[in-house]
Amino acid sequence: MNKTIRVKDKLFEPMIPEEEIREAVNGIARRINSDYAGKEPVFLCVLNGSFIFASDLLRRINLPCRLSFIKYASYSGTRSTQEIRNLIGLNEDLEGQDVIVVEDIIDTGLTISHLLGDLSDKGLSTLRIAAFCFKKDAFRADFRIDYLGMELPNEFVVGYGMDYDGFGRNLPGIYKIVKS
Ligand code: IMP
Ligand code: MG
Repeated sequence: MNKTIRVKDKLFEPMIPEEEIREAVNGIARRINSDYAGKEPVFLCVLNGSFIFASDLLRRINLPCRLSFIKYASYSGTRSTQEIRNLIGLNEDLEGQDVIVVEDIIDTGLTISHLLGDLSDKGLSTLRIAAFCFKKDAFRADFRIDYLGMELPNEFVVGYGMDYDGFGRNLPGIYKIVKS
Protein backbone atom coordinates (compact mmCIF):
# COMPACT_ATOMS: atom_id res chain seq x y z
CA MET A 1 0.00 0.00 0.00
CA ASN A 2 2.40 2.72 -1.13
CA LYS A 3 1.22 4.03 -4.40
CA THR A 4 -1.13 6.68 -5.64
CA ILE A 5 -4.45 5.42 -6.93
CA ARG A 6 -7.19 6.96 -9.03
CA VAL A 7 -10.83 7.00 -7.94
CA LYS A 8 -13.02 8.42 -10.70
CA ASP A 9 -11.30 11.65 -11.74
CA LYS A 10 -9.18 12.20 -8.61
CA LEU A 11 -5.90 10.87 -7.24
CA PHE A 12 -5.52 9.53 -3.73
CA GLU A 13 -2.47 8.49 -1.75
CA PRO A 14 -2.17 5.92 1.04
CA MET A 15 -2.86 7.28 4.51
CA ILE A 16 -3.85 4.54 6.98
CA PRO A 17 -2.84 0.92 6.28
CA GLU A 18 -5.13 -2.02 6.99
CA GLU A 19 -3.04 -3.16 9.95
CA GLU A 20 -3.51 0.15 11.76
CA ILE A 21 -7.23 0.04 11.04
CA ARG A 22 -7.46 -3.45 12.52
CA GLU A 23 -5.71 -2.36 15.72
CA ALA A 24 -8.06 0.61 16.12
CA VAL A 25 -11.16 -1.56 15.62
CA ASN A 26 -9.84 -4.12 18.12
CA GLY A 27 -9.38 -1.35 20.68
CA ILE A 28 -12.95 -0.11 20.27
CA ALA A 29 -14.35 -3.66 20.48
CA ARG A 30 -12.41 -4.37 23.66
CA ARG A 31 -13.82 -1.28 25.33
CA ILE A 32 -17.40 -2.00 24.26
CA ASN A 33 -17.15 -5.64 25.37
CA SER A 34 -16.07 -4.50 28.79
CA ASP A 35 -18.38 -1.45 29.15
CA TYR A 36 -21.48 -3.40 28.07
CA ALA A 37 -20.84 -6.62 29.96
CA GLY A 38 -24.21 -8.04 31.04
CA LYS A 39 -26.08 -5.88 28.52
CA GLU A 40 -27.46 -6.50 25.05
CA PRO A 41 -26.62 -3.43 23.00
CA VAL A 42 -28.24 -2.51 19.70
CA PHE A 43 -25.74 -1.22 17.13
CA LEU A 44 -27.35 1.42 14.97
CA CYS A 45 -25.23 1.73 11.85
CA VAL A 46 -25.33 4.81 9.70
CA LEU A 47 -25.35 3.74 6.04
CA ASN A 48 -23.66 3.64 3.63
CA GLY A 49 -20.21 4.49 4.90
CA SER A 50 -20.23 2.55 8.17
CA PHE A 51 -20.99 -0.87 6.69
CA ILE A 52 -17.39 -2.09 6.66
CA PHE A 53 -16.46 -0.69 10.07
CA ALA A 54 -19.72 -2.11 11.46
CA SER A 55 -19.05 -5.57 10.06
CA ASP A 56 -15.48 -5.63 11.41
CA LEU A 57 -16.57 -4.26 14.79
CA LEU A 58 -19.57 -6.57 15.22
CA ARG A 59 -17.47 -9.67 14.62
CA ARG A 60 -15.27 -8.67 17.54
CA ILE A 61 -18.17 -8.11 19.93
CA ASN A 62 -18.65 -11.04 22.27
CA LEU A 63 -21.95 -9.89 23.81
CA PRO A 64 -25.48 -10.76 22.76
CA CYS A 65 -26.29 -7.87 20.46
CA ARG A 66 -28.47 -6.71 17.60
CA LEU A 67 -27.94 -4.60 14.53
CA SER A 68 -30.06 -1.98 12.85
CA PHE A 69 -29.50 0.51 10.03
CA ILE A 70 -30.35 4.07 9.25
CA LYS A 71 -29.47 6.02 6.15
CA TYR A 72 -28.82 9.71 5.69
CA ALA A 73 -27.14 11.56 2.90
CA SER A 74 -25.21 14.79 3.36
CA TYR A 75 -22.24 14.46 1.03
CA SER A 76 -22.17 15.31 -2.61
CA GLY A 77 -18.80 14.62 -4.27
CA THR A 78 -16.07 15.80 -1.89
CA ARG A 79 -18.19 18.46 -0.14
CA SER A 80 -20.57 18.25 2.76
CA THR A 81 -23.85 19.77 1.52
CA GLN A 82 -24.99 20.69 5.06
CA GLU A 83 -28.42 19.47 4.21
CA ILE A 84 -29.25 16.05 5.66
CA ARG A 85 -31.69 13.87 3.82
CA ASN A 86 -33.29 10.94 5.60
CA LEU A 87 -33.25 8.02 3.16
CA ILE A 88 -34.00 5.02 5.38
CA GLY A 89 -35.62 5.81 8.70
CA LEU A 90 -35.69 4.08 12.03
CA ASN A 91 -38.06 1.17 11.80
CA GLU A 92 -37.36 -0.44 15.10
CA ASP A 93 -38.65 0.17 18.58
CA LEU A 94 -35.57 1.22 20.54
CA GLU A 95 -37.38 2.03 23.76
CA GLY A 96 -35.41 0.87 26.79
CA GLN A 97 -32.48 -0.24 24.62
CA ASP A 98 -28.76 0.43 25.01
CA VAL A 99 -27.97 1.90 21.61
CA ILE A 100 -24.53 2.38 20.09
CA VAL A 101 -24.45 4.49 16.94
CA VAL A 102 -21.82 3.26 14.48
CA GLU A 103 -20.40 5.77 12.02
CA ASP A 104 -17.45 5.61 9.61
CA ILE A 105 -16.33 9.21 9.90
CA ILE A 106 -17.47 12.28 11.75
CA ASP A 107 -16.66 15.44 9.84
CA THR A 108 -18.82 18.48 10.61
CA GLY A 109 -20.90 16.34 12.96
CA LEU A 110 -24.18 17.42 11.36
CA THR A 111 -25.26 13.91 10.38
CA ILE A 112 -24.91 12.58 13.91
CA SER A 113 -26.51 15.70 15.42
CA HIS A 114 -29.47 15.07 13.15
CA LEU A 115 -29.61 11.42 14.23
CA LEU A 116 -29.37 12.37 17.91
CA GLY A 117 -32.36 14.66 17.34
CA ASP A 118 -34.30 11.80 15.74
CA LEU A 119 -33.47 9.53 18.68
CA SER A 120 -34.19 12.02 21.44
CA ASP A 121 -37.85 11.08 21.91
CA LYS A 122 -37.46 7.32 21.45
CA GLY A 123 -37.01 6.48 25.13
CA LEU A 124 -33.59 4.81 24.80
CA SER A 125 -32.03 3.53 27.98
CA THR A 126 -28.52 4.67 26.97
CA LEU A 127 -26.96 6.11 23.82
CA ARG A 128 -23.31 6.17 22.86
CA ILE A 129 -21.41 6.90 19.66
CA ALA A 130 -18.70 4.79 18.05
CA ALA A 131 -16.92 6.39 15.10
CA PHE A 132 -14.02 4.95 13.22
CA CYS A 133 -12.50 8.33 12.44
CA PHE A 134 -12.96 11.98 13.26
CA LYS A 135 -11.90 15.17 11.49
CA LYS A 136 -11.50 17.33 14.56
CA ASP A 137 -10.81 20.55 12.65
CA ALA A 138 -14.05 20.26 10.66
CA PHE A 139 -16.26 19.50 13.67
CA ARG A 140 -19.00 22.06 14.30
CA ALA A 141 -21.40 20.08 16.48
CA ASP A 142 -21.80 19.53 20.18
CA PHE A 143 -21.70 15.87 21.18
CA ARG A 144 -19.13 13.50 22.56
CA ILE A 145 -17.68 10.57 20.62
CA ASP A 146 -17.56 7.76 23.16
CA TYR A 147 -15.52 5.29 21.08
CA LEU A 148 -13.11 6.63 18.47
CA GLY A 149 -10.71 4.75 16.22
CA MET A 150 -8.54 7.66 15.12
CA GLU A 151 -8.39 11.36 14.43
CA LEU A 152 -7.69 12.46 10.87
CA PRO A 153 -6.52 15.78 9.47
CA ASN A 154 -9.17 17.78 7.64
CA GLU A 155 -8.63 16.15 4.25
CA PHE A 156 -10.96 14.21 2.02
CA VAL A 157 -10.46 10.44 2.31
CA VAL A 158 -11.74 7.26 0.68
CA GLY A 159 -11.56 3.58 1.53
CA TYR A 160 -12.67 1.40 4.43
CA GLY A 161 -16.31 2.15 3.53
CA MET A 162 -15.82 5.80 2.67
CA ASP A 163 -16.47 6.97 -0.87
CA TYR A 164 -15.90 9.63 -3.47
CA ASP A 165 -19.12 9.85 -5.49
CA GLY A 166 -19.94 6.25 -4.59
CA PHE A 167 -16.52 4.81 -5.49
CA GLY A 168 -13.63 3.69 -3.31
CA ARG A 169 -15.59 2.08 -0.48
CA ASN A 170 -14.03 -1.31 -1.22
CA LEU A 171 -10.44 -0.17 -0.63
CA PRO A 172 -9.15 -1.99 2.46
CA GLY A 173 -6.95 0.91 3.60
CA ILE A 174 -7.71 4.63 3.90
CA TYR A 175 -6.42 7.00 1.19
CA LYS A 176 -6.34 10.79 1.19
CA ILE A 177 -6.90 13.05 -1.76
CA VAL A 178 -3.83 14.36 -3.58
CA LYS A 179 -4.16 18.12 -3.75
CA SER A 180 -3.68 19.47 -7.24
P1 IMP B 1 -20.78 15.09 8.77
O1 IMP B 1 -22.27 15.17 8.81
O2 IMP B 1 -20.16 16.34 8.19
O3 IMP B 1 -20.15 14.74 10.11
O4 IMP B 1 -20.39 14.00 7.72
C1 IMP B 1 -20.56 12.70 7.97
C2 IMP B 1 -20.68 11.84 6.74
O5 IMP B 1 -20.07 12.41 5.59
C3 IMP B 1 -19.93 10.59 7.03
O6 IMP B 1 -20.80 9.63 7.52
C4 IMP B 1 -19.38 10.18 5.69
O7 IMP B 1 -20.28 9.31 5.06
C5 IMP B 1 -19.27 11.46 4.93
N1 IMP B 1 -17.86 11.95 4.93
C6 IMP B 1 -17.29 12.86 5.74
N2 IMP B 1 -16.00 13.07 5.44
C7 IMP B 1 -15.73 12.23 4.41
C8 IMP B 1 -14.54 11.96 3.64
O8 IMP B 1 -13.43 12.52 3.84
N3 IMP B 1 -14.66 11.02 2.67
C9 IMP B 1 -15.83 10.37 2.41
N4 IMP B 1 -16.96 10.60 3.10
C10 IMP B 1 -16.91 11.52 4.08
MG1 MG C 1 -21.25 7.83 7.03
